[in-house]
Amino acid sequence: MEAKISKKKFDILVLPGDGVGPEVINQAIKIIDVVNELTEIEIRYEFDYIGGACLDRYNQSIREETLKKALKVDAVLLGAVGGPKWDKQRPEQALLTLRKRMNVFANLRPIKDYFNSNVDIMFVRELTGGIYFGPKKLIQTKKGYIVKDVLVYKQEEIERVLRIAFELAKSRNKNLVSVDKANVLASSKLWRELADKIAKDYPEVKLRHMLVDSFAYSLIKNPKNFDVVVSENLFGDILTDEAAILVKSLGMLPSASIGYKLKNGLYRGLYEPVHGSAPDIANLNIANPIGTILSVSLMFYYSFNLPYISMLIEKAVIENIKQGFLTKDISNTSNYKTTSEVGENIKNILKSLLLKELQVSVRNYK
Ligand code: IPM
Ligand code: MN
Repeated sequence: MEAKISKKKFDILVLPGDGVGPEVINQAIKIIDVVNELTEIEIRYEFDYIGGACLDRYNQSIREETLKKALKVDAVLLGAVGGPKWDKQRPEQALLTLRKRMNVFANLRPIKDYFNSNVDIMFVRELTGGIYFGPKKLIQTKKGYIVKDVLVYKQEEIERVLRIAFELAKSRNKNLVSVDKANVLASSKLWRELADKIAKDYPEVKLRHMLVDSFAYSLIKNPKNFDVVVSENLFGDILTDEAAILVKSLGMLPSASIGYKLKNGLYRGLYEPVHGSAPDIANLNIANPIGTILSVSLMFYYSFNLPYISMLIEKAVIENIKQGFLTKDISNTSNYKTTSEVGENIKNILKSLLLKELQVSVRNYK
């Protein structure tokens, strides 16, 4: 069915994590199972622990062997990490370690509205540098504490993520906004200079710089003005939660974290919904699985180079929304569907889409 499938067998590591993580991951697995059942593609998956779930079991938020596995598989699919139960143990650190070890420095967060606004932004968040990873210090003095979170970037770290953003802009509407705080931060000044330098390699892309405060305002006021947006780590974290307002719910947003291409031309990616573990609604079967299912769609695109299957998964999500199979966060009525009902429905739609495709390809080859 795919014009060229160079590789048909893939191994992925699945880390459901905490809170609503396992519930939404279960729905994503249904999608993977359908592809396994109906196509020649085989995706083998192995489960492991991360975050609070790992702390409970192994007394550490991620194990070395899990990190090693993550560097062997074709992709990692993750639910969510953290919750009040483990507040003092910082389970989120596991996620930061995983991102760093996988060297997935570009976090792609498509902000696409499937309801009616036509908003379609590709947000590129730098993911393995900046204030998240700089030195942290708590110093006690006679006059009280002094605390430090240091924002550090190497030129190379800025350039590589900018290049990914330029490439994406080139493949889309050729419009790139680089978000910074160059009127205050030294790191932003360098960021801006490097963006201008790299822009010379992409004459077809229109680059604009925006200050983060003004961008935060424009994003909500004129969301259709944006195509690809790139920013450093912390700005990107905050702005993408804000952007979720444009697509009705944080539960809708997927993400793909990628780094350099592997020798086989594919990306070993980390795929996770943008939302967190949402402990307040965990185990109620009401979390929105769409962000996670769309993350699987991104996995087919970036890690498996199967854009056609990726598109069919997205199509199934769109059809599901059309049919009004909506979880509580996006439903306008009190008659909303559960996490598993939505997962099941998307699975069934994908199944019929794939069956239709198979018939077509059988006919074509007869
Ligand atoms: C995200 C999350 C994480 C982040 C947390 C859980 C560490 O908010 O993926 O956006 O800040 O990167
Ligand atoms: Mn976040």
